[in-house]
Parts: sequence; structure tokens; C-alpha cells
Amino acid sequence: MAGNSFGTAFRFTTWGESHGPAIGVVVDGCPSLLDLSEEDIQPWLDKRRPGQSRYTTQRQEPDRVRILSGVFEGKTTGTPLSLMIENTDQRSKDYGDIVGKFRPGHADYAYERKYGIRDHRGGGRSSARETACRVAAGAVARKVLGDTITVRGALVQIGPHAVDRSRWDWDAVHANPFFCPDPEAAARWADYLDGIRKAGSSVGAVVEVVASGVPAGLGEPLYDKLDGDLARAMMTINAVKGVEIGDGFAAAALTGEENADEMRRGPDGRPLFLANHAGGILGGISTGQDVVVRFAVKPTSSILVPRRTIDRDGNDTEIVTRGRHDPCVGIRAVPVGEAMMACVLADHLLRQRAYTVR
Ligand SMILES: Cc1cc2nc3c(=O)[nH]c(=O)nc-3n(C[C@H](O)[C@H](O)[C@H](O)COP(=O)(O)O)c2cc1C
Repeated sequence: MAGNSFGTAFRFTTWGESHGPAIGVVVDGCPSLLDLSEEDIQPWLDKRRPGQSRYTTQRQEPDRVRILSGVFEGKTTGTPLSLMIENTDQRSKDYGDIVGKFRPGHADYAYERKYGIRDHRGGGRSSARETACRVAAGAVARKVLGDTITVRGALVQIGPHAVDRSRWDWDAVHANPFFCPDPEAAARWADYLDGIRKAGSSVGAVVEVVASGVPAGLGEPLYDKLDGDLARAMMTINAVKGVEIGDGFAAAALTGEENADEMRRGPDGRPLFLANHAGGILGGISTGQDVVVRFAVKPTSSILVPRRTIDRDGNDTEIVTRGRHDPCVGIRAVPVGEAMMACVLADHLLRQRAYTVR
């Protein structure tokens, strides 16, 4: 199946299905001599791991990563890194009903039309189980970025309920099960999501990812713009239906003077931006400000509420998706968005080194 690789200089390729024996990722282009061990990757996978609260799927996967190649005596060798994660809690029988029926809103119908065959168990290759591989690649990308570039994500909206940005607290993000930066919103979301879960329904969300410490100059005009690559990266995540950079769609409602990020000479003699409507990118190239990306995640399509659909023979029928599903997949999309941001930045950092002399 083509289309399983992402990136240019820092390039990863994922493989595997939701209910196969294992999933994995090959990372090519990682520079040599970086310190890298399984312990560097595992914490990021633990953050995405299912079954950690009642608001995510109860599938229990330890998601233990194994490095199969590309590391010698604790350092990357510059050869392809191969990372593998075993699937241990598949329960394929849960998916009996979707053998012959298509879940509305899921990839079943499209995969069947394209390939004429599909691994229906948990969605096979279209399952977001694959995103664990992206998170593993993202952990390697963070090594390439080093300590001066940080990538952090947060959930800023669940259903119609957005955070109050005046209460934004990065420390709060890991103190609630939603990666929510606003503790008061998190408390309200808990009740709201309990209701959604008990109703056998699901709800969408908005994720924001912010990269700080990004040097000015990353991004290749014109067709490999940094914002273009970020938009593509986020759109490749399962269930993502919209991406914004900086003010995004809200910029359409601004005047030119409101939208322009004015500049002054800063106290240290370096340029100081007075705002960041652009999300840290101008002309497809980073400015040194925070790089800000938001993406909208649709509601989980596998729900307990019966939905009308057709079977493989084209007959009308109904479907109820049992199995174990996240009532809001946006929650676990936060570490996935962070990983994709890290991979795009690592890719452009390496390209910047290749194409410029300063
Ligand atoms: C972290 C994460 C977990 C997901 N878990 C589920 C799930 O349990 N059930 C489901 O129907 N969809 C789930 N999805 C979404 C599907 O994978 C996705 O909707 C499907 O592949 C169809 O692709 P599309 O929505 O991008 O068109 C999840 C998405 C993410 C990001």
C-alpha cells in the first residue's frame, strides 16, 4: 500500500494493522550519534496509550516499544531505525458486526471500494492504532530537535465547550484526563463527557499544538512551506477534518492592521513581535515566534447508537458498533499532534542544515 511514508530528510514509514501481531515504524534520515534508548521513546507512547481513564477506549495495550535497528551502544548509527510495538489486546470477536456492514463515518466503505479487501478487525490499517507509530517517530524527532525546541499540545475544545484562554496553564495539561490547559473547563468536560459516554455517543474536539524555541528560517518556499507541511501532517491524523495555523479562519474577520504582527527592536537588540496572529510562520518560513497549529477532530464514528447503513451486498441495514472506543478521540489525538509537529520540525531542521551555509 503506497502512502505510508512521511517527511523528506527525516522520513518515517509505518506498518501494521490494529489486530495484527504488531505495528511499527522505520525512521530514516535520523542523524548519527544521538543518544537514544527505548526509555526515551516509551514516555511519549505512555501518554497516548489507551485505557488510562474512563474517557478513552478500555483496550489495554502496554505499547512497549522495541528498537530493532539503528542504535548501537546507546547511540543512533545513522542507519534506519526500526521500532516495533506488539499488539496484545486485540479481541477481534468484538468486531463481528462490521465484517459485512460499513460503519457510517469510518473508512470501511472507502477501503473496500479501493482495495476489494479489508481487515475489518478494529479498522485494520485505518485504525488509529497506527498513530502509536507516529508517536514513536515523534520521540525520535524530539531528539533531533534537542532541548531548545519544545513541542506541547493541549485540548482546547470538546464538543461546543471551549477553554477560557485567560486561564491557560501548561502545568494543568497533565493534571486532568483531557490534556486540558484550563482546570475549570476540565471539570465541566468530565460531566459533559460522562453523559456522552453513557448515551453510547461520541463528540468532536479541537487540539492545539505549540512549538517554542523554533529558530527563524525553517521551511522551504514554495511547495514545502512549513505551514503547508504542518497542515498536511495534521490532516493525515485519523479523524482530523480541519487545520488552522495561527489565527487560521479567524484571520478572515480581522483588518490588515489587526492581523499584522508588528515588530520592534527588543531589549536584547533582537526583533520583537508584538503579536502572533501568523502562528510563527511567514512566507512558509518560521520567524522564531511560537509555531501554533490547531486541528479539529470529528466525533468517533463507532458508536452504540444504531445508525443506518448498507451491507456488502448493497442492502439497507442498521449497525451498532460494539468493541471498545473512545467517546472523544480528540483526547488521544493530542500526543499524536505533538508527534507530527516534532517530525515536521525535525525534517525542516535537517533540510535547513543541508541547504544553507549560516
Ligand atoms: C487517537 C485516535 C483514536 C481513535 N479511535 C477510534 C475509535 O475507537 N473508533 C472509531 O470509530 N474511530 C476512531 N478514530 C478515528 C478513526 O481512526 C478514523 O475516523 C477513521 O480511520 C476514518 O478516517 P477519517 O476519519 O480520517 O476519514 C480514532 C482516531 C484517533 C486520532
